[in-house]
Amino acid sequence: MRGLIDISELTIEEIEALMNTAEDIIENPQKYSESCKGKKLATLFFEPSTRTRLSFEAAMHELGGSVIGFSDGSNSSAVKGESIADTARVVGCYADIIAMRHFIEGAPFVADRNCVVPVINAGDGGHNHPTQTLADLLTIRRKKGDFSHLTVGFCGDLKYGRTVHSLCTALSRYKGVKFVFIAPKELRIPSYLVYEVLEKNGIEYVECDNLEEAMPTLDILYMTRVQGERFEDKAEYERLKDSYILTAEKLANAKSDMIVMHPLPRVNEISVEVDYDSRACYFKQVLNGKYMRMALILKLLSEAKQGISADAVRPKPISDDADGKHICQNPKCITHTEQELPQAFKCVDKSKNILRCKYCEARVK
Ligand code: NCD
Repeated sequence: MRGLIDISELTIEEIEALMNTAEDIIENPQKYSESCKGKKLATLFFEPSTRTRLSFEAAMHELGGSVIGFSDGSNSSAVKGESIADTARVVGCYADIIAMRHFIEGAPFVADRNCVVPVINAGDGGHNHPTQTLADLLTIRRKKGDFSHLTVGFCGDLKYGRTVHSLCTALSRYKGVKFVFIAPKELRIPSYLVYEVLEKNGIEYVECDNLEEAMPTLDILYMTRVQGERFEDKAEYERLKDSYILTAEKLANAKSDMIVMHPLPRVNEISVEVDYDSRACYFKQVLNGKYMRMALILKLLSEAKQGISADAVRPKPISDDADGKHICQNPKCITHTEQELPQAFKCVDKSKNILRCKYCEARVK
């Protein structure tokens, strides 16, 4: 069944409709209080989470459904060696829809391909986080009215920050959006986004490392945490972790209607004094996330009822581009951990023969 693995699987119109449903839920919660009666959501969280898991669970409860699952993969059969594909097949026998978070990139994708119920990617390693993007988009629309011609600054860990990758992909489809990527050189935005999302579509962007200089140009400042858990070299994390700290003083140079966003959790990259600034929107994102997840669950369960398959939106992982010679070199990719998983590539530039792994999007050389 169709789930949600990558934000680009949803059209702009579908995202618009999800936001409209979320607005209707906010206005008329009672109308939806039994919409998922008799339905079960399974939350399979192999990585720590507060917001995402609890907001999925609160969303399902508010729709009248129930929730099963685990919040710690070390209590699941994964520790006995069970594959993602088998876990997904099994849970598909108990639940109507699955939300999966995993530290392995591509894990929810593999779950989705092996399961009879929709699978939602609730964050896969440093790769993607499409439902945080839905929360972010509703927050932006509520504050800014629409998305066109916004200048969006992403600041912090743009390499491992999966929420940045999904939101950048989503926003790049709106007219006249410009990006400013503010990061130390070690944590710059991944090349697949630069070449295949931004350059390919002629989107204006700059990469820089100075937050203060960028500040006055921005309509949105999206701060992120440096993702300590994803660093191979802990000394490098220690060196980079305090690269950017947003303070009230730095905000003085921002537009009066700029909004400050952050997917949370915050470590220290936004000073607590900023919370009192009317431009701070990060706790609004949290609430909007619950409503967007309610809207998404409703949509996917309704499509499942109509028999709409994932094949309608996404090709199968095995494709003609796999030539049998290449293997994905990203050690965090699921192809290195899952039993008998075929290598699968997409050719993103035929003239330069650039291949990317279909599970994790790493470039394959
Ligand atoms: C983010 C995540 O898990 O990627 N949190 C969230 O889901 N709201 C951001 C982060 O962990 O830094």
